[in-house]
Amino acid sequence: MKTLIFTIALSALFASCKQNTEKAYLAANTQETADLKTQPDEAYTLMKNNCYVCHNPQAASHDDIIAPPFKAVKMRYTNVYDNKTDFINAMVHWVQNPEEEKALMRGAVNRFKVMPKLDFPTEDLEKIAAYIYDNDLEEPTWMEEHMQKQHGNGKGMGKGKMNKN
Ligand code: HEC
Repeated sequence: MKTLIFTIALSALFASCKQNTEKAYLAANTQETADLKTQPDEAYTLMKNNCYVCHNPQAASHDDIIAPPFKAVKMRYTNVYDNKTDFINAMVHWVQNPEEEKALMRGAVNRFKVMPKLDFPTEDLEKIAAYIYDNDLEEPTWMEEHMQKQHGNGKGMGKGKMNKN
C-alpha cells in the first residue's frame, strides 16, 4: 500500500514538473521571438533598411521576391568561404563591386539580373555581413520547396562553377 501511494505521489510530481517545464519553454520561446522583432540591433536594422528592399524574406512567394533570400545567399557563401573573415570580406567586396562574371549565385543572376552596385560604407557592410554569418536568418516559407526542386535541397549548391578569377 505504501508503495502504491508513493508511486501515485511520484507520478503526480512528475506530471506537474513536466507541465512547468513546458510552460517555461513556451514562455522562453515567446520571449525570444518578441526580442527578435523589437531588438534595436544595429546590424539587423542596417540590413533591413539597406538590403531587404530586394532581399526581403517576407515576400509572399518565390514569384514576388526580387533577389535571393539571405538564408540562401549565406548557404552559398559558407559553401565557398569556410571562415568568418573570408565570408565578410567576400560579401563586402561583392556589394561594392558586383560583377556578373564573379557572381556565385548563377541561378539568381539569370533570374533577376546581376545585383546593382550600391554605395554603402564599408563599415556598415561589415556589420551586415557579420550579422548574416552569425545569425540564423529568416527562411521564406517557400524556400525549402524551391531548394528541393532547383538545388536538390541545397546539397549541390557548393558544386557550381567557381568563377574565382
Ligand atoms: C536593388 C536590389 C538589391 C539590393 C538593395 C541589394 N541586393 Fe543583393 N542582390 C540583388 C540581386 C538581384 C541578387 C541576385 C543576382 C546576383 O547574384 O547578382 C543579389 C545577390 C546578392 C548576393 C550574392 C552575390 C553572388 O555572389 O551571386 C549578395 C552577397 C548580396 N546580394 C548582398 C547584399 C547586401 C549585403 C545588400 C545590402 C547592403 C544587398 N545585397 C542589397 C539585389 C539587391
